[in-house]
Order: sequence, then C-alpha cells, then structure tokens
Amino acid sequence: MQSLTFRRPSDLHVHFRDSEVLEAVVPFTARAFCTATVMPNLVPPVRTAREAAAYRDRINAAVPNGVRFEPRMTCYLTDQSDPQDLSEGHKAGIFTAAKLYPAHATTNSGHGVTSIDKIQRVLETMQDRGIPLLIHGEVTRHDVDIFDREKIFIDEILIPTLQRYPRLRVVLEHITTKEGADVASSFGNRLGATITPQHLLFNRNALFDGGLRPHMYCLPVLKREVHREALRKAATSGLPNYFLGTDSAPHFQHLKEADCGCAGVFSAPVAVEAYLQVFDEENALDKFENFASVFGPQFYGFEPSSTLVTYVKKPRQVPASVQVANVGSLKSLFANDEVAWSLAG
Ligand code: NCD
Ligand code: ZN
Ligand code: ZN
Repeated sequence: MQSLTFRRPSDLHVHFRDSEVLEAVVPFTARAFCTATVMPNLVPPVRTAREAAAYRDRINAAVPNGVRFEPRMTCYLTDQSDPQDLSEGHKAGIFTAAKLYPAHATTNSGHGVTSIDKIQRVLETMQDRGIPLLIHGEVTRHDVDIFDREKIFIDEILIPTLQRYPRLRVVLEHITTKEGADVASSFGNRLGATITPQHLLFNRNALFDGGLRPHMYCLPVLKREVHREALRKAATSGLPNYFLGTDSAPHFQHLKEADCGCAGVFSAPVAVEAYLQVFDEENALDKFENFASVFGPQFYGFEPSSTLVTYVKKPRQVPASVQVANVGSLKSLFANDEVAWSLAG
C-alpha cells in the first residue's frame, strides 16, 4: 500500500468560532495538525491581546487529552486598532500576527478596516516589530465583479502596501487566482500565500453542479479552471512562498442551505487527506511535506514539528455531518463521500 510519512503539518489559516462549535471543531484540527493560525473574526471580533488570551484558553480547553496542539492567535484589525496593544501582545507571545479584513469583504468583517490609510501607524509598528500582516485580499466595491475582486485588490491595495512598507511581511490568505499565485512569489521571502484544499480541488462549476451547491460556497469564491491549474502548480512548485492554510470555516448546515447562505467550507475533518489527493494527482508527493509542514513555520519563524505522521492511500468514508451539541450540524468537505487517503494506525 502506498504511504507517505512527514512531519506533523501546520494549518496557517483556520476558523474555530466559539462555544459549542469550537468544542466540536477544534479536535479535528488538533488531531491532524501540530499548530494552527486561528482567525479572529468572532462576534464580537478578537481585537485585543486580552481577548486573544482568553480565546486561546477556550481553544486549549477543547483540545482532546493527550493531543499536542498549539493555537496561534491573531488580532482583528479595525480602524481603531491600538498599535501598542498589538506590539505588547506580540511581545508577550499572545499574538502571532494581525489580520486585515477589508470592511464587509467576508464573514464577520463588518468591523474591518474601511481604508488601509486608517491603519498606517499599526502597519509601521508591525513592520518594525516583524509582526506578519495576514490579508483577506478582495476589494469590496459593488461595481467590481465578484470574480475579479482578488485581482483588483492585488493591483490597487496589496502591491502599493508592499511598496509603501518595504519591510512589512505579508501573507495573502486563501489565494484563488493565477494573479494571486504570481504575485505571492514576486516579493521574495516577505510575501507568502496560503492555499485551501477547495481551491486546489474545484473550479467554479462545482458551485452549480446539477443545482446550487451551498457547501461549495466560500470567499473568495471558486474561480475558473485556469486559476485552479495555476494554484495547483504553485502549491506543488516547491517554492517556499506557498503553504498550507485550510481556511476551514464551519457554518451550521441550516445557515448555509438558506436564502442568503453563509460563505465558508468546513474542511478540517478531511483537510490533510484532501491536500494529499491533490499532490498525488500532480505526482508531487515529494513536495508535500514542505508545503504542509515546513514552509508555513519557516515564514512565521517557528520550528516545524519534529513528530512524524504517516498517511496511507486507503479510502475512508466521511460522515454525512458533524453534530454540534443540540444546536445544529456541520457538513464537511467530502461529507457522505470517500477520501482516498487516511491516517495510518
Ligand atoms: C470565512 C468565515 O466563514 O469566517 N469564510 C470564507 O468563506 N472563507 C471568512 C474568510 O476567511 O474570509
Ligand atoms: Zn478570508
Ligand atoms: Zn478564513
């Protein structure tokens, strides 16, 4: 049987939510990954070091006994963000990075930044202290076609920001386009990009496959096949700018299958398996460990895990849903279907 052994991977972009959902989803990530960068878009958002430390405690309490997992906390930037709280939180080991959500670009981004000029002092501090800036890279103007929002963000906001703050380190999160893949490797080691499993596996046809598919809807939305091909090439390129970030984003099934369905694909239960499928299809399993376990830690400046895991090419059935206490259910990627790889043992 084909198998692959590699250091425990790191998920550099995940949503855990809070309360019962947090308790239901954290174990999936904690079992599969040694660490994860946790997104701060709660209601209300995680804006201060104090809120982040309390959130980290709630996450740690949901990690199953005997499992080693380290959550890395992020600061939700607003027009009012306090550079001092951010840099002290970073110094104290609470904040790993800060997240820029352009206001109204995605789930729970209503408190996000209305214009990049509003956070000039924060960005100067981040550049001085070496705190990475994580970006949801989409413009929000309604006159811009939803499929062009990433490309236009890159030209209008990302590149000018990288030029204005020449030492700022940036991760363009969940890239979905050829333009995203191209730019991510064109600023040396100060720019990186995470890539999700769904953007490697599917193009936008998956949203309309025989009918409307709400569980395939996330932001940035799935794009054309040329973009998926560019992302697969980037992920398997062996370049250190591209690394694993699932963007696992659980929403209750009833809130996705709705008149105005929420954006987000819940991939945590099958994420490593899904990436393995992609690298296997690309005949690039030799590039997998760097993408999944090394390049992310390298960008952030922490040590990759020294523990090894083995996955085997053996199909595993994925449950139809994950029940969350008495409040609802979550439908993961590949629900009711099979994944081709599974964790050995
Ligand atoms: C994310 C969420 O649900 O929090 N949704 C998504 O579609 N990706 C937010 C985000 O990462 O933009
Ligand atoms: Zn996002
Ligand atoms: Zn996300």
